[in-house]
Order: sequence, then structure tokens, then C-alpha cells
Amino acid sequence: MMISNSVTAEPVQRDRSGTAAAVLEPRPSPAVAGYAASFDEVYRAADGDSARVPWADERANPALVSWLNAEAPGRIRPGARAVVVGAGLGDDVVELLGRGYDATGFDVSPAAVEWSRRRFPEHAENFVVADLLAPPARMRRRFDLVVDAYTIQSLPIALRADAAAAIASLCCPRGTAVCIARGRDDGQPLDSFKGPPWPLSARELVSLFESAGMHPVREADDFLDDETPPVRRLRAAFVHR
Ligand SMILES: C[S@@+](CC[C@H](N)C(=O)[O-])C[C@H]1O[C@@H](n2cnc3c(N)ncnc32)[C@H](O)[C@@H]1O
Repeated sequence: MMISNSVTAEPVQRDRSGTAAAVLEPRPSPAVAGYAASFDEVYRAADGDSARVPWADERANPALVSWLNAEAPGRIRPGARAVVVGAGLGDDVVELLGRGYDATGFDVSPAAVEWSRRRFPEHAENFVVADLLAPPARMRRRFDLVVDAYTIQSLPIALRADAAAAIASLCCPRGTAVCIARGRDDGQPLDSFKGPPWPLSARELVSLFESAGMHPVREADDFLDDETPPVRRLRAAFVHR
């Protein structure tokens, strides 16, 4: 297994088995290079202590778990291909693998990917460095299920539409995307939030994915999570038209 310290490593590297899952990607797209470095720095500075990564709690996202329990069985076939974008420390990927999905996670931060591989060495090949805004060609239209937990909300606002389009591009025909994000009211101005993260409104979330050619399977869930204090979240699933 080749593990790079940097997304500026060789444009394409393969592990000994040559499997696509272990391919490392070239440097992030110019649009994301600055903030991608800041994510990487958070993971590096944490030095293996997840308590120092503000969004990491070393468990699968509860809103994803409840969606997988209640809605995935009627929508996603057993063993389907799934990808988690901005996979962080990898818990959502491992949750999907544990349920029998053929799951991969990618993150723009090499430090996050290295950390995931250290945490889950048996799944090391399922974690790759890649930029959502410039997804590897081999991932396009490949996945039955694309999961975003807290990535769109943490991107510069000007990149949200591109991010939603990129998520849609990873879905195979009739594929499903699930997005979980901080929530705000429709019409509540974004400049009242000091992001990142920048919460999404339900209307905005639907509009982002509609513009990317996907439509919501039903109204977005709008709820308070189990954190202390509770945080308002949105969860919505989308399918290709
Ligand atoms: C708020 S964290 C959430 C991480 C993880 N999904 C979780 O819930 O713990 C956002 C993650 O998205 C990653 N990320 C940000 N921009 C990205 C991009 N353009 N492509 C891939 N990953 C990205 C960051 O490195 C970070 O790990």
C-alpha cells in the first residue's frame, strides 16, 4: 500500500494489487486548494487525537444510520456501490461496509485518509485522496449511493453548486445521493452565520440538487440532532430524473 503525505504526489499511484481503490489523485483543483489545506492542517495538528477534530466523534453519523435502517433497504440493492465524499475519519464508510455495501470513501485531506487507514487497516484500500470538485474519472456515474455528511456545508458558499453537481456526477443512472447538513430557515441570511460551517435551508438544498439533475424523493427531514447542545440538521435523499 502506498500512502502519500501529500495530494501533490505522483499524479497516479497504485498499490501493489493495482486496484483502483488505492489510487492517489493529483493536487486539488485550484478552487479548493486553499481551504483544502486548512482541513488537512486540522487533521495533522490533531496528531491522532480525534477530540481535537471539531466534527469527528468516531461513530457513524446517526442520521445516516437511521436512513440506512429505514429507507435504504427499499431503495439501494444489497452489495451496491457506495461512496462517501469528504469521508473524514472514515466511520461512515465502515458503517456501509459493515452493511455489505461495496463502499469507498474519499477526502481531499491526505492526513484524513492516512488516519482512516490507520484506524481501519483492514479497509485501508477503501480510503482514497480525491477532490470532490475534480472527481476522478473512474468514479463518475459509478455509484448507486453517494453520501455527503457535512461536506457541502463546510465548502465556500460559491462552490456549493459545483459540489452538488459533482455529487450528482458520481451517481449512476437512477442512483441516490443522501445529503446531511446543518439547517437554517429559508430566507435566513447566510451572513448571520460565521462559517464554516454555513447551514443550508431546505429550499436551497433541494434547489442545488434539482439544478444538478436530481430530484428529492420526499421533503427534507429537518431535525435537532443528539449533540449537546443539539444542532439543527437537514437530511435529504435525491435520485436522478
Ligand atoms: C466537516 S468535515 C466532515 C467529515 C466527515 N464527513 C464527518 O462527518 O465526520 C468535512 C470534510 O470534507 C473534506 N473536504 C472538504 N472539501 C473537500 C473536497 N473538495 N473534496 C473532498 N473532501 C473535501 C474535509 O477534508 C473534511 O474531512
